[in-house]
Amino acid sequence: MRYTTVLFDLDGTLTRSEKGITRCALYAAEKMGLSGYTEEQFRSFIGPPLFASFKRVCGMDDAQAEQAIAHYRERYNAVGYAENEVYTGIPALLRSLKKNGCKVAMATAKPQAFAERIAQMFGLAPYLDALVGPGFDNKHESKAHIVRRAMDALGGTAVMVGDRCYDIDGGKANGIDTIGVCYGYGSRQELAQAGATHIAGTVEELTEILLGGAPRARGVLISMEGMDGCGKTTQREALVAHLMQLGWDVRCTREPGGDGIAEKIRALVLDPENEGMFDETEAYLYAAARAQNVRAVIRPALMRGRAVVCDRFVDSSVAYQGGGRALGAEAVAALNALAVGDTLPDVTIYLRMPPERALSRRLSASEPDRLEREQSGFFERTYRTYEARFDGMARVAAVDASQSIEEVTRDMLRAVDARLGELTL
Ligand code: TYD
Repeated sequence: MRYTTVLFDLDGTLTRSEKGITRCALYAAEKMGLSGYTEEQFRSFIGPPLFASFKRVCGMDDAQAEQAIAHYRERYNAVGYAENEVYTGIPALLRSLKKNGCKVAMATAKPQAFAERIAQMFGLAPYLDALVGPGFDNKHESKAHIVRRAMDALGGTAVMVGDRCYDIDGGKANGIDTIGVCYGYGSRQELAQAGATHIAGTVEELTEILLGGAPRARGVLISMEGMDGCGKTTQREALVAHLMQLGWDVRCTREPGGDGIAEKIRALVLDPENEGMFDETEAYLYAAARAQNVRAVIRPALMRGRAVVCDRFVDSSVAYQGGGRALGAEAVAALNALAVGDTLPDVTIYLRMPPERALSRRLSASEPDRLEREQSGFFERTYRTYEARFDGMARVAAVDASQSIEEVTRDMLRAVDARLGELTL
């Protein structure tokens, strides 16, 4: 690979931050007694230093601009920093860079303390070997100086990646190559005029420039488990939205199911008419559907660096067929070994809820399918098997699913973030 150290600008390069920035600028202008502005008029605040922007867009003098910045920071500190999302494909790119031994830094004109919070909140921090931004005592530090500090911290053959001419200038001033990305806030023309060494129109193109033929990191497999009625579907939606905000390209699948063939097996296994189905037949059908899903859906998506969210996976078979049907946890795990091979979840969200509670919620929601018609002993055994299997398992994030929807979501996302952070190291 051409570059062993990659320095990334933040806004417009790693994250799309217009909402936070434009809303805070509008808030500051209004606090300064200026009315009649719209968020749209503050779009040009993205990138250049705030001080210059307030003077240019609002006609402020130095003292007013300083005061406006204080108002801006007040809102930014409270809510603005969270009005942000990571560009799709960035976590996959950062993981691939780490896989190939590259050093990665964030080199931003945003105050370092804010940049650190964003890096934490949006899952970027675990990938960063350095994070360099102006301190509050050196607010107007130039991009060239920031880039220099990041280079000094990491060494290697560095490249600066950014979306504005300031980033390109900052790299050039230090004699290093630069990559201009035009999916952010600067145009291709701006970046070409500034003399960027390469220009990338998309995150994919950026990945190609940085990695070329080098191997890419595998994506992550996240499974969701719990008793019928534990609220899995609602929480899955929240999880997917969160992962997307973190820049993951998400592929959802469910078991039994996945592609057309696996869905046919699903219909067969859940059909209430199939009363004569033996427990062993059922266990093999779930495993067969899983073998299909793993090869047709999950592995191809992981190869492309995507986050796969799988609604139930092998642990469901161990709990329901191994425990509920009393075929034995080990026997069912063994039966599934050929189906899954080495494709195991990186994170398993276990929405923990006692069976009576889960069942009463489930039965009031819709017509029961074949499995849901089982007697309570079946669910009790299923629950106990889940509990025993998951006890102390590193990949499992157990969440108390008896709480309110918001509390479950909060606990779940916290646990997922922690686990994703560990996986990168
Ligand atoms: P699920 O799709 O989660 O249920 P729903 O969409 O109705 O909420 O799961 C369907 C049923 O299949 C559920 O009762 C659990 C059962 N199941 C097993 O018994 N073994 C397995 O391996 C899997 C994947 C599911």
